[in-house]
Amino acid sequence: MAIPTETVYGLSALARDEMAIRRVYEVKGRPPSHPLIVHFADADGAREWAGRWSQRAEVLAERFWPGPLTLIVERADFVPDAVTGGRSTVALRVPDHPLTSQLLRIVGDGLAAPSANRFGRVSPTTAAHVRDDLGDDVDYILDGGSCDIGLESTIVDCSVDPPQILRPGGIATEDVAAVVQKLAATSGPSRAPGMLSSHYAPRCRVILVEPGTPPGEPSTGRTRTLDANADPIIFAREMYTELRRADQDGIDTVVIELPPARGIGTAIRDRLSKAAANR
Ligand code: TXA
Ligand code: MG
Repeated sequence: MAIPTETVYGLSALARDEMAIRRVYEVKGRPPSHPLIVHFADADGAREWAGRWSQRAEVLAERFWPGPLTLIVERADFVPDAVTGGRSTVALRVPDHPLTSQLLRIVGDGLAAPSANRFGRVSPTTAAHVRDDLGDDVDYILDGGSCDIGLESTIVDCSVDPPQILRPGGIATEDVAAVVQKLAATSGPSRAPGMLSSHYAPRCRVILVEPGTPPGEPSTGRTRTLDANADPIIFAREMYTELRRADQDGIDTVVIELPPARGIGTAIRDRLSKAAANR
C-alpha cells in the first residue's frame, strides 16, 4: 500500500512482516542491502524500536517530530534484518500527514516505507506519480494529495558521536545543528547506503547553474529552463513533478538555476546534483 507523507509518497509494509517487506523490495527493484525507514504515529512508538535511545535522539525527536526528520539509532533486537539490511541500526521517523498519522495510529505499530518509485528514479509526490511508476504492482494508494515539502526527509545518524547528517532534506541542516550543537562534517559521498549518485534521475539531461549565473544557450534539442532560486520552498514542492513533466513533454535538457546551499536549498542542490550526474 502506498501512503502519503509531507515529504514524498512511501510504499509501505508492516515493518514486522518480513514477507511484506520482501515484496516492497521486489516492487521497487531495490537491492536488499539498502535499509528502509520505519514510520510511526508518535515518538513513543518509534522509541520502542530503538535498542538505545540517546538524549540527542530525544531532543531531536522532541523538536522535529512529527516532521521530515529521520533518526538512525541502534536497533532493538526484534527489528527484522529485512528492514535494516542486517545493520545494527534502524531508521525511524514520525511523518506529518493527517491521513498517514491516522493510519499509523490504527495500525499501532511501525510501517516500513521507502519512497514509492522504482529504484533510482524520481520520487513520487502525488498519488498519480505512484500509479505511473508502479502500476498494478501497488495494490492500494492512499491519496493524500500533493506532498507539502516535496523532497525526502533529513537523515541524522544519532548512533555516532557527534551525530552526522547522512542526507540533507526537509529539515534544514542549520536547524539540526542548532539543536545538537555539534555535527560531524559530511565529507565526500553520503554514508547512507543506497544514496547512489544516480538517484533521483529523470530521463532528460539536467544542467545546473549557480545562482545569478545567466544560463548559456544550449546547442541542440528541446530545452526548458527552471528557476530553483526564486523561491526554493515552492521549487522543492514542485521539483519532482517538474522533472517528470520534462520527461513527459519530451524535453531533452532542463537547465536549472540553483538556490544557495542554505535552508531547503541544501537538499535541492543534493538531489539535483544527483539528477545531473546521471548522464
Ligand atoms: O522522506 C522520506 O524519508 C521518505 C518518506 C516515504 O518517509 N522515505 C525515503 O525512503 O526517502 P528511502 O528508502 O527512499 O530512503 C531511505 C534512506 C536510504 O538512503 C537508506 O539507505 C537510508 O535511508 N537508511 C535507512 N536505514 C538506514 C540505516 N540503518 N543506516 C543508514 N542509512 C539508512
Ligand atoms: Mg528513495
